[in-house]
Amino acid sequence: MDKFIIKGGVPLKGTVAVRPAKNALLPCMAASLLTTEQVRFTSSARHMDIISMLSVLEHLGADVEGKPGGRLSVRAANGHGDLEAPYDLVRRMRASVLVLGPMLARYQRARVSLPGGCAIGARPIDLHLRALATLGADIRVEHGYVETTAKKLKGAEVVFDKTTVGGTENILMAAVLAEGETVVRNAAREPEIVDLAGMLTGMGAHIEGAGTDTIRVEGVRELHGVTHTCIPDRIVAGTLLIAGAITGGDVTCTDVEPEHLEALLLKLRSMGAKVDAGESKVRVAAPRKLVSTDIVTQPFPGFPTDLQAQFMALLSQAKGTGTVKETIFENRFMHVPELVRMGADIRIEGNLAVISGPRPLSGAPVMASDLRASACLVLAGLCAGGVTEIRRIYHLDRGYESLEKSLRALGGRVRRVKE
Ligand code: EPZ
Repeated sequence: MDKFIIKGGVPLKGTVAVRPAKNALLPCMAASLLTTEQVRFTSSARHMDIISMLSVLEHLGADVEGKPGGRLSVRAANGHGDLEAPYDLVRRMRASVLVLGPMLARYQRARVSLPGGCAIGARPIDLHLRALATLGADIRVEHGYVETTAKKLKGAEVVFDKTTVGGTENILMAAVLAEGETVVRNAAREPEIVDLAGMLTGMGAHIEGAGTDTIRVEGVRELHGVTHTCIPDRIVAGTLLIAGAITGGDVTCTDVEPEHLEALLLKLRSMGAKVDAGESKVRVAAPRKLVSTDIVTQPFPGFPTDLQAQFMALLSQAKGTGTVKETIFENRFMHVPELVRMGADIRIEGNLAVISGPRPLSGAPVMASDLRASACLVLAGLCAGGVTEIRRIYHLDRGYESLEKSLRALGGRVRRVKE
């Protein structure tokens, strides 16, 4: 297992290019099951989750060429006999559940292991299953697997009780090959949904309204191959910009979509940072003193839950009392005890964290507990006095590609070493 050793106290300065988003690549890769033709991705990212999704696709009979981090091509000419995403693959990455919709649409059946909970919450998939049932799928949950069949999916009105990114993606991928029109209400509006809809449209699907809360899909008989470029990773970009702000530095991210980062940029401005957003780039220069603010995590275009932990590290360095309310996941404060060990003043009341600052952080051995909590600890280590050792950074590698290299390019003193 690898760990990070960080010597804090250096203001990060410079420019980094951002790569395609994990959370866009994953559904788009699953969507390549919808056609017998080749689907090409002009670039990808070398995350563990992308590697896991490639294993799932190969297990389902797809031919995969290229390397994670570079171009990829997927061709699902024939379905594999058992059409099953087994427990061993799904437990490594819960987004494997995104193959359910496309498999059902293309092969009329699918068997996918139930993902189970994860560190940040219970994360059920009931809304995915209910939506697929509305399109006519017969669904059974037995022995830890979802088994689903449908002779022919039929378009219908799907109303999500709660906004769900993965649920919206699954239903879109099922509806594109269903008979007739599907209307998805209370759809997620995340940029990753718009990206997926763009790719599906490029494959011949008829979709309107992606990016709004009502998406209409007119099913088609078949889809063809496509070459697709996924959107840049707004969470990686946000993490690097916060790294600049927390160290008193000045960081520019290029190859980004500034409008995907608006909620974060608004908050950084209100804390006193100087923010310049141009075409495909964003620069954040830290003020002499950060001023506290409050955030509430919300579905897009609200403040993303995936930047909540990193932003909390920043609030620990701001003057005044700020609050963080987490409304998406029930257990996403696991970074708090570790931040407190490093000297932060944070009190938790239910889903609210109250952060008083600024408090100087001091380096300490800490343990990463999930993907974004790990990123939060890296940021804390970058501004702490002395040395921070972060264990279990395999969590970090699920969604950041060699984060230590990007940080070193900005002047950060971060080393990856074997435990
Ligand atoms: C996606 O997860 C992202 N993952 C998450 O990224 C992200 O945090 C999340 O959306 C919210 O933005 C991928 O895109 C691969 P949801 P997803 O369905 O689709 C509840 C990261 O760090 N819910 O929008 O699983 C659920 O428990 C991560 O990169 C149900 O109750 O999220 C949660 O409370 C982790 N039943 C809320 O809805 C369902 O059937 C939103 O979840 C589905 C969801």
